[in-house]
Amino acid sequence: MRNELDQQLASAASEAQAAAQTLDGSAVAPSRNEPDTAHPSASVSPQAPAEERPRHRCVELGRAVVITSGKGGVGKTTVTANLGTALADAGKRVVVVDADVGLRNLDVVMGLENRIRKHSLDVIEGHASLDEALVRDRVRKMLALLPAAQNRDKDEIAPEAMRALVAELQERFDFVLIDCPAGIEQGFRNAVAGAQEAIIVTTPEVSAVRDADRVAGLLSGAIAPKLILNRIRPQLVKRGSMLNVDDVLDILRLELIGVVPDDKDVIVATNRGAPVVDIAGSETGAAFRRIAARMLGEALPIPALSDRSPWFARMFASLPFGKRSSTRGS
Ligand SMILES: Nc1ncnc2c1ncn2[C@@H]1O[C@H](COP(=O)(O)OP(=O)(O)OP(=O)(O)O)[C@@H](O)[C@H]1O
Ligand SMILES: [Mg+2]
Repeated sequence: MRNELDQQLASAASEAQAAAQTLDGSAVAPSRNEPDTAHPSASVSPQAPAEERPRHRCVELGRAVVITSGKGGVGKTTVTANLGTALADAGKRVVVVDADVGLRNLDVVMGLENRIRKHSLDVIEGHASLDEALVRDRVRKMLALLPAAQNRDKDEIAPEAMRALVAELQERFDFVLIDCPAGIEQGFRNAVAGAQEAIIVTTPEVSAVRDADRVAGLLSGAIAPKLILNRIRPQLVKRGSMLNVDDVLDILRLELIGVVPDDKDVIVATNRGAPVVDIAGSETGAAFRRIAARMLGEALPIPALSDRSPWFARMFASLPFGKRSSTRGS
């Protein structure tokens, strides 16, 4: 039997499906109740209790996407909150999962910190149900947050437990967006454990790109990550003082899914506990909505920001990382 949150999400889904339009006004991709042949993990979840499994049809699982980076402070949480919001606005049932145990802040970015009662470790340890831990967004019925524990340690979760939790969420939501902590230790391993897709966030800085390359190497084989280049400053790129998009792609050779400008609107929005996608006329908000549309299969071009900066390109050509043979993507 469906619980209360499921029912609310289901009714919100049908409402939103009727009304959902993408930025350019075209209809969004089909709901999870319709066949999504592009989704590689569509099958009956092994975690579903037998009595809850439909007997004559497959359960269409949501897409579990980890947002990761290696380096800290490059925008993973910002990306998770904004893509979650934009996907919900496109008619998808979305849960954003804070996997940053001990240092959670996705709740603050989304303005939901005062409504947290339980967290993911409570669920994993059997002290709370998923419904008790999930926090529904203030504005969007289609969007929910699964908070992390604040006073616990990343090592207290095993990857298998995280995988089972994500699988359960995939049965209820179209998208499970997992906000990964910085680093490549236990927190990273837990965050990627249940994901079938990955988005690597980097900024156009040498250290961030190198860490992104390391993470891409760790994921390759299991997942083909996509790339978001965050905090681009076109004027610095133009002057040759900042890596441009092509410089970063030459190094990382990942499929670029979006470029997000460096924008004070993000800081203003974060301090208000609201996503930047809600700021009317925000260029950055529009960039996030385009990324969400690309995740849904729309072939939207990524606007070019500037010419190459030859000095950086030359400098990176002499460095040892970024030499993997993978292709840049389609
Ligand atoms: N495009 C942007 N323009 C301006 N500021 C940004 C942008 N993206 C993120 N920021 C700011 O950068 C800071 C770090 O962002 P965020 O917390 O999302 O990074 P993170 O990768 O999740 O960090 P951590 O590794 O600590 O979890 C925040 O203050 C955020 O507001
Ligand atoms: Mg973060």
